[in-house]
Amino acid sequence: MPKLQIKPSNHTLGASVEGLDLSKQLDQEQFDTVIKALGDYGVLCFPKQSLDAMKLKQFSSRFGSLEVNVANNFQEPGHPEVMVLSNIVENGKPIGIADAGQDWHTDMSYSSTIAFANVLYALKIPRRDGKALGCTSFLNMHAAYDDLPKDVCDKLANATALHDFNKFWEMMRREKGSTRPPLTPEQRRAKPPVSHPVFLTHPITGRKVLYANPGYTVRINDWPEKESDEMLEYLFSHQLNPKYQYSHEWKEHDVLMWENIGTLHNAVADYGPDEPRLIKRCQVMADWIFDSPQAQAVGADRAPR
Ligand code: SIN
Repeated sequence: MPKLQIKPSNHTLGASVEGLDLSKQLDQEQFDTVIKALGDYGVLCFPKQSLDAMKLKQFSSRFGSLEVNVANNFQEPGHPEVMVLSNIVENGKPIGIADAGQDWHTDMSYSSTIAFANVLYALKIPRRDGKALGCTSFLNMHAAYDDLPKDVCDKLANATALHDFNKFWEMMRREKGSTRPPLTPEQRRAKPPVSHPVFLTHPITGRKVLYANPGYTVRINDWPEKESDEMLEYLFSHQLNPKYQYSHEWKEHDVLMWENIGTLHNAVADYGPDEPRLIKRCQVMADWIFDSPQAQAVGADRAPR
């Protein structure tokens, strides 16, 4: 294997990590290098990997517990931590979730234990006229926080915001023609809205990030409704500025890993039903990372519940 090399994209986020075979266990030095690069670049592409579901799971679980989505029918057989994202239909049945993440959001901000990282492995990428479709786009929330005016930082310094799973679900049904049924009362009860600080200290960089997103954030707690709505509208439009944006154009056998604490993402749905896309995904919870030597070194606590 050639030497480990990190090649920055020279955009606001993103780097390519070469010289690592993710099917083999990383040694401590390699692992620490990946963690540091996640903090520095937010989104890492490991090209030309060859992973089965077990190896994808083994690599991902080095970074924290893996989420098992009990409501999800599209899990890899025998590996419920590995989800299948796909628009492919076989024998009249979809083989994966066809519309996951198709607008700006941060995974699991609606959960009391938030998400640390996603690890996606691409098996089929749609292409039209030679150009890859179905990019995944990202926003840099370290940079968005750094650019906030001081009066906004002061007003929100100790604020918390409410995040609700149902917000994204309903938006997909209302605006994107999704065929998902409404959440049942039981499903809603199983995922009640949760609060997190509007600004979090990032567990790798120790810097503040803006932790709010149009997908799930519904309210600034303890603020009058109108002021909360106006502030959220301001924060959403601020964070969506194209200068914070980076898009990953996929190639088959890319592993793309991003950290969710300092980024938002959007799975761009610019391909049709006859243009197959197949990606396997593990979602890593932010449990180990807040206890890690990296978080202790920068003084970042577990996000308050
Ligand atoms: C997601 O994890 O939100 C889906 C990303 C993608 O399919 O590009």
